[in-house]
Formats: sequence, structure tokens, C-alpha cells
Amino acid sequence: MGYMQNSSKEQYIRYTELLQKAADINYASAVLGWDQEVYMPSKGADARGRQLSTLAGQAHEILTSDKLEKLLKALSGKDDLTDAEKSNVRLSLEDFEKNKKLSPAFVEELSKQTSECFNAWIEARRKNDFNVFAPSLAKMISLKRKQADLYGYEVHPYDALLDEYEKDATVAMLDPIFQGIKEQLPPILARIKSSKQVDNSFFHQLFPKQEQWDFSIDVLKRMGFDFEAGRQDYSEHPFTTSFAATDVRLTTRVDEDNYTSMLWSCIHEGGHGLYEQGLPEDQYGLPLGSAASLGIHESQSRFWENCIGRSLDFWKFFYPQLQQRFPAQLGKVPVEAFYKAANKVEPSLIRTEADEVTYHFHVMIRYEIEKALIEGKLDTKDLPAKWNELYNKYLGVMPEDDKTGVLQDVHWSHGSFGYFPTYTLGSFYAAQFFSQAKKEISGFDKQVVNGEFNELLHWLRERVHKHGRRYTSEELCERITGQKLNTSFFIRYIQEKYAGIYE
Ligand code: CO
Repeated sequence: MGYMQNSSKEQYIRYTELLQKAADINYASAVLGWDQEVYMPSKGADARGRQLSTLAGQAHEILTSDKLEKLLKALSGKDDLTDAEKSNVRLSLEDFEKNKKLSPAFVEELSKQTSECFNAWIEARRKNDFNVFAPSLAKMISLKRKQADLYGYEVHPYDALLDEYEKDATVAMLDPIFQGIKEQLPPILARIKSSKQVDNSFFHQLFPKQEQWDFSIDVLKRMGFDFEAGRQDYSEHPFTTSFAATDVRLTTRVDEDNYTSMLWSCIHEGGHGLYEQGLPEDQYGLPLGSAASLGIHESQSRFWENCIGRSLDFWKFFYPQLQQRFPAQLGKVPVEAFYKAANKVEPSLIRTEADEVTYHFHVMIRYEIEKALIEGKLDTKDLPAKWNELYNKYLGVMPEDDKTGVLQDVHWSHGSFGYFPTYTLGSFYAAQFFSQAKKEISGFDKQVVNGEFNELLHWLRERVHKHGRRYTSEELCERITGQKLNTSFFIRYIQEKYAGIYE
């Protein structure tokens, strides 16, 4: 009888209880983290830092407990679990072994440093002075190097950090991809530069905040974002976070004098949000209830932002509505001119506002800098100079100050080293998925022209969202498209699109 009591099913339930308890703590932390960037008054920073640190420690304790280890080891040999259950157990055991490499003290230290570093970044941006951020960042980098050592790596310490965001991604895999960018994008860029330039000056007029906001909500609703299971708010740096598939938060920022600043970032975050809302609810807190990887997450945001949201077909539907909201600003601008302006290629300083071609140089610059910082070849104090040197080298532009240069991204203040490459991987996956979706969905173009996205969303739900972490990025890509990540899809997508825009 005792034997039956101790069945796999019962152990599996005890395992899910533990994981879901840790998830409760982590999602509660996410609420605090969201609040920190959306509403928290500046004096709340210290208290918030310790609260987050305590919660991180508690979740870590559960996820590295002997109790969980025993259950996972017992379950991992069991045959009478479903495939989904086996996947959860296998992935949880991998996570466990990884978590176990960090001591609770280290996790709390890292969490505390993250809060401190984020606040220093906010302060530094306010003062437009990298030196305000530098000491905190230097401490963060030394912690990240320690973290890489604790995780262990075969070839490059950066590999250990990459793995956190994109399992199996390594310097050896990324170097050739960025090498390809260095070789294939400059000739395209040169041809664009020598063509007739696109006029986007009409984006720089007064576009009242509220109208911009209202239109973004209309677009998100059309895309299928469920506002009963999520919302949008303002923050310094747009992001998406989730407290469950049924409570997904998007944030945005508005620039009244620059229409390009907000809308595409809303569509981008909307793509992330749809992925989070599409994760299976019954897998709450378990590996199959979370996203495959950041690269795949970013494939969803870029699919919507670029492949859909920057297409002419998309604007054939939405543009009349936009003109109605901004008759004085856009009433006389034809849809084709708006479409071209939305895709204007121009080397610039700010990554989040970059076009689809030059974007990847922004990522490459950060990738090269991060590798050098983690290797110890670049000192924090030399970071702004290195930043400016690389911007000049790859994009031919030079930041005038720290705010538009080295202080523009929030990532390093969060300790997110190894994160940026997932943006480029995301674009490449998106182009490959886009090509497949067009093949499989009949009347795809017409649906977009009619503002109908139900079938597309269903396709993404079935192919990507509902699987959670069941497949690695590479496996998922192969299942969806029949082949591994192939950068030629992106290059072809870029060539076709810009041939139409720049003739
Ligand atoms: Co994103």
C-alpha cells in the first residue's frame, strides 16, 4: 500500500507544488519589479531592493532544496509519466543543477546589486553622466564574472552567461553570425545610401500623448492582446513582464515630438505579451508554462513589430484610422509615404529606434563590448570611449553625450550580460517563421490588409506559444520550418523589402 501511495503521480504532484510555490514568489517579485519601474517613488528604492533580495533568496532556497532534488531524481527515472510531465521533470532537473551552483548568499548579493545598479543607472541618466553609474557597474561586472565561473564553461566565460538567456548559444555560434552581418549588411546599406532618400520629417511634429496612447491600445486589441489578462503602462524603458499567462504587463514611453518613438515599440511589446498570454495556463510555474528562450521571445516581438507592423499591408488597414486621429499631421501624407518613412534606413545612435538594417550593428557593438568586459580586456572606466569608437567604426555616428551613448540601455544595470545577442537571433528567427507563415496561411496578405490577425495568432499559438520550454530554440525552429536557423531568410527578407522602398 505504501508503494502505491508513493506512486509517480503523487511525487509529480509534490514536485509541481514546490515549483509553483517558487513561481508564486518569483511572480510576486515580478510585481515589485514592475512597480519599481512604473510607479515607485525614488525614496522607495532601498526598501524595494531588500524586499526583492529576500524574495529571490526564498525562491532560490526552494529551487535548490534537498526535497526538490529527491523528488526530481526519483521522478527522472519513471516511465509512467506523460510526455509533458517527463519534459517538465527533465528541464527542472537541468535548472536545479544550474541553480545549485550559486549559493543563496551569492543570489542575494546579485539581487541587491541589481537594485543598486538600476538606481545608479536612473540617476546617471538624469545627470547625463556615466561616472555616476560606473562604480556600481564595475561591481556588477565582477559579480557576473564570478557567476560565469560558478556556472562553469568550456571555452569562453561569456558562454556561461549567454546560456542563461539562450540555451546552447555560445561565442562559437554567435561569432560567425555577427561576422555574416559585418559582411552582408554593409553592401546593402551602401546601396540604400546611394538611392533616393526617404522623407520622414512628418514624424517630427506634435503628436499629442493621449491620441498616441489610444491608437496603440486599438492596435494591441486588433493584434489579439487580451486586456482582461493584461494592461499597458508607462515606464522609462519599454518592457513586458508577466505575473501569469492571465496577467501580462506591457510598458511604453511617449515622445510627443517624434511619432516613431512609441507605436512600434508598443507593437513589439505586444508581440512579447501575446507569447506570454499564449503559454499554457495549466503549466503555471513549470518549465512548459514558460517561454522557450529569449531569442524565441524576441522572434515573437519582432515578427509583429517588423514583419507585420512595418509592412505596407498592415498600414493599408490602420492608416485611415491613424489619419483620423492626426488629420493635421498626416491628412496629406499618402499611405505609401508613411510606410516608407516607417522603414527609413539611417545609421543612428539609439538602438531601440534603429531601422531593421542598422539595428544589428547596435547589437554587435554591445556583443563585442560585453565579451571584452567579461574577458577582462576592457575596463569599466574605458567603456564610453570604446562605445563611441565602435559607433564611429560601424555606423559612422558619434554620441554627443552619455545619455544617447553608453547609458541608453537598461540591461547592464540589471546584470543582463549575454542578453543583447538574443535580439539579433530573434530577428533572424522572425524572418524564418514569417516566410513559413506566409506559406502555410492561405490568403495571408489579404488578411493583414483587412486587419484580421486571428489566424496568424492561432498559427503562432500552435507553432510556438503553447509548447513553452518543451523544445529548445533550435528544435522549435526545425519543427516549424523544417530547418535550423538559417540567416539567409533574414537577408532575403531585407533585400526584398528595401528593394521596394529604395527602388
Ligand atoms: Co523585445
